[in-house]
Amino acid sequence: MLQQYKILTVTHRSTNLKDIGTFALSADNEQSKKLQLDILKDTFGIEELYYVATCNRVLFVFISEQDLSKNFVESFFKRVNSNLAASATHHNVLALEGLPAVDHLLRVGGSIDSLVVGERQILGQLREAFDQAQERGHIGDSLRLLFQRMVAASKDIYSNTRIGEKPISVASLAVRKMMSCQLKSDSRILLIGAGQTNTLVGKFLVMHGFEQVTVFNRSIEKAELLAEKFSGEAYTLTELPNYKKGFDCIIVCTGSKDPVVTPAIYQELLNGDSPEGKVIVDLAIPHNTAAEVFASYPETIYIEIEGLRQLANENRDFRKRELALAEERLQDHVDTFPTLFQQRQLEIAMREVPTAIKAVRAKAVNEVFRKDIEQLDDSARAVLEEVLSYMEKKCIGIPMRVAREKLIS
Ligand SMILES: NC(=O)c1ccc[n+]([C@@H]2O[C@H](COP(=O)([O-])OP(=O)(O)OC[C@H]3O[C@@H](n4cnc5c(N)ncnc54)[C@H](OP(=O)(O)O)[C@@H]3O)[C@@H](O)[C@H]2O)c1
Repeated sequence: MLQQYKILTVTHRSTNLKDIGTFALSADNEQSKKLQLDILKDTFGIEELYYVATCNRVLFVFISEQDLSKNFVESFFKRVNSNLAASATHHNVLALEGLPAVDHLLRVGGSIDSLVVGERQILGQLREAFDQAQERGHIGDSLRLLFQRMVAASKDIYSNTRIGEKPISVASLAVRKMMSCQLKSDSRILLIGAGQTNTLVGKFLVMHGFEQVTVFNRSIEKAELLAEKFSGEAYTLTELPNYKKGFDCIIVCTGSKDPVVTPAIYQELLNGDSPEGKVIVDLAIPHNTAAEVFASYPETIYIEIEGLRQLANENRDFRKRELALAEERLQDHVDTFPTLFQQRQLEIAMREVPTAIKAVRAKAVNEVFRKDIEQLDDSARAVLEEVLSYMEKKCIGIPMRVAREKLIS
């Protein structure tokens, strides 16, 4: 039964960050994402389905009786992206079922499998994806149980090991690196994109006292929300080419697949200023800055996400020492999952017991012994009612208790 837990995933461990997106759903709004996921469910006999895509992993967790054969995996990803070659799927996709699938999800939540070990941001992303899956009606008892276990294991790991110390996220690394480029708290910063990553960048900017921050975003509401943190100005992305107030640093991070900072826009933003000493931080995958910008303006300092990996190594060593401890704690949660799962299955099966016992009582009173009961006087009937109620109450608890005892022994 535990075998029904399946995972198909592509992660930074096997795949170049730039290519991970090709295994993700192409939908860029919730309605079409739901449609694509509904089709996957129907096509592949999936009962429950949970989907997460971050910049370093694409993860499908689902409940199904299907074997994860080569053919299954290939057809599945053909449905996700019809342009994917079978060879790419075989080379990049990790297929797991049963306890190894449980183990994997718990590793992801505990950030043991993260690009930067100990990066807690992943837990928030997993929670958000779970809420979305619930809203789609794709979550049932089995995935709920697994998710609860994952959250419990993650909390245990984060609270009882030092794996999350010396916090390193792409956002914090970016701000650190940016500050090493002689930028001061009164430097003018253009924050392009107001999603999760730039919101986190914003927190670090506030923490380091940056005050002159202007936010551009596709939707003005999110731009305003982020700009509030600095009492800064907010604009829509379409206004970027017309911005003439100058800048010292651009931090760009949007989900756009096309470049947001093109040579023409960069020139407008410079507005006659020298590109020397200006900084562009590009955290997007794929990059939001056109390659021609760097070719045309070599004096500009360019910080991009891949380059930040080097910086991550400094603190990663410290975190790695905590890994062994985290692994131990994780193992406890994985080891106890099969028992938890069985208990849950029992509880589900036992849901029918009260109704079944009530039905037996009703049949006895209304059919089998109806005539005999009609012969009884009122006080005898009252006693019989009391005895039956007592028996009904007691009987309901017996199967669950016996099953639990058997499970424990
Ligand atoms: N999350 C991470 O761990 C992480 C880490 C490093 C890098 N990244 C990369 O950062 C980028 C954004 O990630 P995120 O986590 O911040 O995502 P997010 O929370 O989903 O936010 C996406 C942002 O991009 C904007 N956007 C989406 N599609 C766009 C388009 N076609 N044109 C212009 N703007 C668009 C959104 O604008 P609206 O507000 O208008 O929707 C929003 O500001 C991605 O390239 C991702 O690969 C993510």
